[in-house]
Amino acid sequence: MAKTRIQFICQNCGTVHTRWAGKCDACGEWNTLVEEGTSGGIGSGPQSTRNARKGRPVALTTLSGDIEDAPRIASGIGELDRATGGGFVRGSAVLIGGDPGIGKSTLLTQAAAALASRGHRIVYVSGEEAVAQIRLRAQRLGVAESAVELAAETNVEDILATIAEGRRPDLIILDSIQTLWTDMADSAPGTVTQVRAAAQAVIRYAKSTGAAVVLVGHVTKEGQIAGPRVVEHMVDAVLYFEGEGGHHYRILRTVKNRFGPTDEIGVFEMSDKGLREVSNPSELFLGERHAKSPGAAVFAGMEGTRPVLVEIQALVAPSPLGTPRRAVVGWDSPRLAMILAVLEAHCGVRFATHDVYLNVAGGYRISEPAADLAVAAALVSSLTGLALPADCVYFGEISLSGAVRPVAHAQQRLKEAEKLGFGQAVLPRGSEELAGGIGAGSFQPATLTDLVVRIAGSLRRREED
Ligand code: TYD
Ligand code: MG
Repeated sequence: MAKTRIQFICQNCGTVHTRWAGKCDACGEWNTLVEEGTSGGIGSGPQSTRNARKGRPVALTTLSGDIEDAPRIASGIGELDRATGGGFVRGSAVLIGGDPGIGKSTLLTQAAAALASRGHRIVYVSGEEAVAQIRLRAQRLGVAESAVELAAETNVEDILATIAEGRRPDLIILDSIQTLWTDMADSAPGTVTQVRAAAQAVIRYAKSTGAAVVLVGHVTKEGQIAGPRVVEHMVDAVLYFEGEGGHHYRILRTVKNRFGPTDEIGVFEMSDKGLREVSNPSELFLGERHAKSPGAAVFAGMEGTRPVLVEIQALVAPSPLGTPRRAVVGWDSPRLAMILAVLEAHCGVRFATHDVYLNVAGGYRISEPAADLAVAAALVSSLTGLALPADCVYFGEISLSGAVRPVAHAQQRLKEAEKLGFGQAVLPRGSEELAGGIGAGSFQPATLTDLVVRIAGSLRRREED
């Protein structure tokens, strides 16, 4: 008989260790190793070759062939359908991750009701809340009358047996993956082994029957889907539902999608009656703008196929500290350090004795390097105390040499700015063909120094007046 092996699986990354340690070598997390059964993990290898069964031949097929009609089921909630790439794909599994309390259950209850009202069979299984709690939420959302089928259950075998009865469901929502457990694994619910085995069983069901499955996963403070991270590679799409504490809007961001674009976002606003779609996010992120405040620059950004205008705010203040403070909200701090270094080295603008605070308005997060130019403009404006023109947008990447580099989708960014009443733009030279509009009269600096000179020039002009 083979000796039973004891193994320790990292609950953060799923790596298998043969002995316990305080720290996982693979991901560097502390206290994440948990003793689990030998039913496998990443790197556990084949279990036993002696009693392995002989493989069964499967039928090979061709790339061409019939595809089921209407492979997607759209909810009619525009922002959700945009993030999923046009609706949930039949036979696929989607993981929706997010912090506890961000609104995942709310979003999915609304989606379930919307889909049910279009005649789809929707099953909502909650492992976290009792039926009464879910009903209460449905009442609050005004969807209590919809034909969603509801269960509070956590055992995967029971769930699959239940939905096998009657018409095949079009969509199954499992809230959340951390609460599920299967008889096939003997670890506690929420451990990597259970999460992986449960997800596997559900995904197998989805692929074999053509029902779409949504798995909900909680994210840890560090922004990683605890446990369900090991599920990310198994599912067809991963969406994150994010938002800043204290702000009402939420962003559904696609990070992986086998059937659609990965850079789309859906924007919602949390109200007392659930999530409301925000189809023009620029208006939300721009908020109230005060024309004459230095340190604010509007960045014309892109989120997937959609232009989004956001205000970038900088505060540069003399520092009492030996090592001045650099604080960033909504952007990358190494990127800020780089912009400060370029301003110092190439433009002679010194921040060494100043604290620098950078904030993206409304709690929005920018990941595009195209925001460089807007950040630099906001920094210079705050340092000099000179307000930038209120009707001007900025975009462009800054290289280490101080050159301003072109970015994609210039035309779309300018169109959105025009639509929202902006009259000027600062953008890189050599951008794609600009067809009239504010692009024609725009300022196109070749280097960051040109922009600094222009901002400083506004002081001279003001003094001459
Ligand atoms: P929930 O969907 O339960 O979050 P998750 O499933 O991601 O843990 O949402 C919980 C929060 O949303 C809670 O703080 C209350 C708030 N909320 C509203 O503001 N309005 C509403 O209509 C609902 C249903 C919830
Ligand atoms: Mg929930």
